[in-house]
Amino acid sequence: MREFGRVGVVGCGLMGSGIAEVCARAGLDVLVAERGAEALAAGRSRVTASLDRGLRSGKLSADEREAALARLEFTTDLDEFADRDLVVEAVAEQPDVKTAVFKELDRVLGGGDAVIASNTSSIPIIDLAAVTSRPQQVVGVHFFNPVPVQRLVEVIPTQLTAQSVTDAVTDFAERRLGKTVVHAQDRAGFVVNALLIPYLVSAVRMLESGAASAEDIDNGMVLGCAHPMGPLRLLDLIGLDTAQSIAESMYDEFKEPLYAPPPLLRRMVAAGALGRKSGRGFYAYDS
Ligand code: CAA
Repeated sequence: MREFGRVGVVGCGLMGSGIAEVCARAGLDVLVAERGAEALAAGRSRVTASLDRGLRSGKLSADEREAALARLEFTTDLDEFADRDLVVEAVAEQPDVKTAVFKELDRVLGGGDAVIASNTSSIPIIDLAAVTSRPQQVVGVHFFNPVPVQRLVEVIPTQLTAQSVTDAVTDFAERRLGKTVVHAQDRAGFVVNALLIPYLVSAVRMLESGAASAEDIDNGMVLGCAHPMGPLRLLDLIGLDTAQSIAESMYDEFKEPLYAPPPLLRRMVAAGALGRKSGRGFYAYDS
């Protein structure tokens, strides 16, 4: 089975920082790219804060924390990705932003056999593969937030992905990263979001209609169904802007009203209430 030793992660937001962290903790050489110095510094401190949390909870020793940090390098220049075996793209959930990154990675990686994976939740993987000269080496690899905690990875081959690439990426996620893989077809939402997003937007509609308060909706699902967090708190964790983008992609694909982002979600995103990352969503958070 093909091994990936040098991993690149493009984007160091909520998901990219988690992916970079689990790869570094698995002993891989990880190069992380962000758009500018400020985003890079924020991404680096996100990874460090998460490693510190692991140290505090006893999941990680001080030596393991140091070793993981030593395996991580940061750059604002995608040209430095030329030696990577596997690059995971985790930039904003917007088709034009992702396709621009894929074109750039395709140029930088040249004619070699490097694999480009997208952590998209809902954008068709084939649309990203199609802007490259290597569609057989493009695959979806979808992680869950918080990446160090959630055990699942969805692997999504397109109609053009080589079977050897799907197998190698599956083996990588399972054996190197210790995750459990489910395979999904290249349909917006894959397995998990196809079920999760209608539930989350239904909770927003319930709040919007005045049927129940945010606390009661969340308590209902936590205490009544043993979910680790209620749907509105989970939306705050995912990011309301990301959830809106996923819902839009799914609505675009299927034209099902149950996927359409409700007006309250759109208004909150427009108002900058993006959830935990902006300090305010359905709930308020300390920085
Ligand atoms: N990084 C690393 N570890 C973290 C963490 C983070 N960001 N957040 C929590 N943890 C760890 C803690 O260290 C703790 O570990 P120990 O039990 O070993 O001490 C454990 O997770 C539990 O954390 P807390 O006690 O602080 O908090 P909690 O019990 O309330 O759990 C939670 C927090 C893990 C987020 C939990 O509420 C949960 O699993 N929620 C559901 C999250 C979920 O559904 N994620 C999927 C979202 S969908 C998605 O990501 C895909 C998409 O495309 C939208």
